[in-house]
Amino acid sequence: MIKKKVSFDISVFSSMDELENRDKKLMKRAVEARKNAYSPYSNFTVGAAVLLENGEMVLGNNQENAAYPSGLCAERVAVFYAGANYPGIKIKAIAITATSINYKVDTPAAPCGNCRQAISEYETKQESPIELFLMGETGKVLKCNAIADILPLAFTSSFLL
Ligand code: THU
Repeated sequence: MIKKKVSFDISVFSSMDELENRDKKLMKRAVEARKNAYSPYSNFTVGAAVLLENGEMVLGNNQENAAYPSGLCAERVAVFYAGANYPGIKIKAIAITATSINYKVDTPAAPCGNCRQAISEYETKQESPIELFLMGETGKVLKCNAIADILPLAFTSSFLL
């Protein structure tokens, strides 16, 4: 038996003002997108901005439904839109910001497991990493270098031969 350790690098920025210009712009778009979330059931609003390799940005926000499981997270709204409308164009980065109508979220919100799996599909397909920038409404921003880092041992199409 051998034991292996899985670890990954993460960068911590004290606020979005500390981000490089490209990434700050992306986060600002995610903040805009967050404001259009439709979340009357959870009161939790999430915005996602996807940066494509051609420089275009695609936005998404969480869309809830009275039949709860029919709703969708912001990240999947955004990456599915990118996949549907920009096939073959690689995703460079995704900025995610979340807050609540009930309180100000000041810790970075991380994508849920389903969203990690959905983003991982695109990362695997395009064979290049997708950077992630995670923020609440205010406060620190975390940068992950690849979705694979936060979804170790991912299930991929390689199993489906
Ligand atoms: N939500 C997202 O949009 N992204 C996530 O990664 C986590 C959760 C949404 C789903 C639901 O509308 C609300 O936040 C509360 O779970």
